[in-house]
Amino acid sequence: MSALLEVDSLVRHYPVRIPGGLFGQPATLRAVDGVSFAVSPGKTLGLVGESGCGKSTTAKLVLGLLPPTAGAVRFEGGHVPARRNAEWRALRQRMQMVYQDPLGALDRRLPVVAQVMEPLTVFKIGTPAERREKARDLMAAVGLTPHLFERFPHELSGGQRQRVVLARALILEPSLLVCDEPISALDVSIQAQVINLLLDLQDRFGVAFLFISHDLKVVRQVSHEVAVMYLGRIVEQGEPEKLFHEPAHPYTKALVSAIPSPWRQEGYERIVLQGDPPNPVQVPSGCAFHPRCAYATAACREVRPVLADIGDGRKAACHLLSPIASA
Ligand SMILES: Nc1ncnc2c1ncn2[C@@H]1O[C@H](COP(=O)(O)OP(=O)(O)O)[C@@H](O)[C@H]1O
Ligand SMILES: [Mg+2]
Repeated sequence: MSALLEVDSLVRHYPVRIPGGLFGQPATLRAVDGVSFAVSPGKTLGLVGESGCGKSTTAKLVLGLLPPTAGAVRFEGGHVPARRNAEWRALRQRMQMVYQDPLGALDRRLPVVAQVMEPLTVFKIGTPAERREKARDLMAAVGLTPHLFERFPHELSGGQRQRVVLARALILEPSLLVCDEPISALDVSIQAQVINLLLDLQDRFGVAFLFISHDLKVVRQVSHEVAVMYLGRIVEQGEPEKLFHEPAHPYTKALVSAIPSPWRQEGYERIVLQGDPPNPVQVPSGCAFHPRCAYATAACREVRPVLADIGDGRKAACHLLSPIASA
């Protein structure tokens, strides 16, 4: 099956100044530093990694909200334009975004049903009565009861607001939803409900997700494939069950070992990462993870590993796993 979304060697650098001299020294912050992946129609790619590793920047690049320093995004067979022209607006009907903060995404002055139907009004789809009916249908589909439809965002709970955001994101029948930490701001008790809703919506509407989260457990639950990011690059990619049962990359091993689980086997040891936290202004030479890696060799300090096949449908960027792969 051909990909719905293809991301090819995406790079986003920011010029910054680091302390030193009168105005600081110019430096480059490598927010995203060569990321490639694909999302198939109706499937979910989970993008996971610690805060600051470049997940949200990747989402903005995918949506064309931010021009890439290098690389390209293809969606439904066409390039995502770097400028917000008519082509970009047409494409954005097909690719929608769900953020962490539903209250920030909604207009406090409008009843929620008006906000759900708004995209139809903007794109002049249907009559006002048809728009309202479609909005009500979709709000019911995301589990909102009719007595909530005319309420204002602040009258709803966090979970209900995120349902409104999802209904609005789906009303133009997009083929891709980019979800950036969509449940991180919700109460733990509500998180599971919204995850189930996302899975149900995918089944019903056949929509693909680029699902971004720092929470490995959540990513594991929703994804068909998982990509682990470290300092602006993907270091491991594969099916969630395999990746979580037998993480291959030393960084993934450390992340997985930190997931709290009552079923840990005896003799299990949590891997505590050594060294400095990652800094995208001073990306280490060679493998960016090498200063924190217990297995690093001289090659790891010098040669940057590329994301390469390690068998079993998995990929990793690690010299120890694919000794010949380097860039
Ligand atoms: N507009 C910007 N200017 C400078 N640095 C930025 C900007 N946006 C993001 N960054 C930096 O890029 C890195 C990646 O950020 P982000 O993509 O938000 O990470 P994540 O979503 O994984 O937490 C961080 O170090 C962040 O501080
Ligand atoms: Mg983020």
